[in-house]
Amino acid sequence: EKGGWSSFMAKEISEEPEAVANTILGRVVDGQVVLPELEGLDEMLAGIDRVIVIACGTASYSGLVGKYAIEKWARVPVEVELSHEFRYREPVLNERTLVVSISQSGETMDTLMAVKYAIANGARTLSICNTQGATIARESDAVVYTHAGPEVAVASTKAFVAQITALYLFGLHLSRVRGTLDPEVAAHQLAELQSIPAKIEQVLGNGAEITQLAKWMSDSRAVLFLGRHVGYPIALEGALKLKELAYIHAEGFAAGELKHGPIALIEPGQPVFVIVPSPRDPNSLHAKVVSNIQEIRARGARILAIAEEGDVAVLPFADEVIRIPLAAPLFEPLLTVIPLQLFAMELATAKGLDVDQPRNLAKSVTVE
Ligand code: F6R
Repeated sequence: EKGGWSSFMAKEISEEPEAVANTILGRVVDGQVVLPELEGLDEMLAGIDRVIVIACGTASYSGLVGKYAIEKWARVPVEVELSHEFRYREPVLNERTLVVSISQSGETMDTLMAVKYAIANGARTLSICNTQGATIARESDAVVYTHAGPEVAVASTKAFVAQITALYLFGLHLSRVRGTLDPEVAAHQLAELQSIPAKIEQVLGNGAEITQLAKWMSDSRAVLFLGRHVGYPIALEGALKLKELAYIHAEGFAAGELKHGPIALIEPGQPVFVIVPSPRDPNSLHAKVVSNIQEIRARGARILAIAEEGDVAVLPFADEVIRIPLAAPLFEPLLTVIPLQLFAMELATAKGLDVDQPRNLAKSVTVE
């Protein structure tokens, strides 16, 4: 079943270009997103004044990426909350609140209970789910399926990129219904999204480099991850992958938070992955992150930069540079996460661990 791969995880990472492509497939017509599953919901979607994304773990990080895109395009406030926190704090909900649940399995008890709570309290519900006919999908008003195919390895990889893709599609759909985005801009964004699978393929081609990196880092005691804007959720995801697969203490931070505390952790030799925004980013976050790199480098950090091809500004300060192809800034997470997934898998492998079945974890958490 592993089709010649050393693990399901390795196989599933190799399937990420298809996971994204298949999630887009059939949903773009004449430069526009078409989601037949949302037919008849235009009035509701035009009338909502708030989106709350609920999910757990990796799925919640896809929600955080989605927030940047949905707010930008559809101009509706988006919050992202862990299902188990949402459910027990009496959140304010009404018929103008859209609760979007994200779940690969569609059976995560925490998320299911949160969806039921949302329904009971008058919210509208949409499920983003990878498993046909799963409980959460059946409970929700509507479902947009991700088409990543079955995910066997406990650690989520291809489902994550498919979830982000589905959120982009939903965000573009919402912006059309709400009339918040110039159709030409939307068509351009869609074309950019459609170019991503081939770019993921390119990133996967640099896998050998990452294997080497993981080998010489296999005795690291702690690894930090920094990102900004859409790179921030990816820093969180990179840290989660390393914890669950390689049992290494790892933390992800928003780069802007460094001087508010985490910089105290930097000591000579501390490895830090930095997801560097594109130098073409209109918010000039690139310069800010490069300056963060200089600050931690001066304190002895070992910098592993994930940066766009041609970005030379990072070269003087980085110990290693992992290159990703040029992409529209909002879509970069679909590329920057790949080296982090590979790194966690390779480091776990170097430590002789079972990457498909990490200790203490289950693929689907069906208890609260
Ligand atoms: C991490 C991982 C978990 C799941 C989480 C939600 O690699 O797989 O954090 O993302 O348990 O699971 P689903 O998406 O099935 O609700």
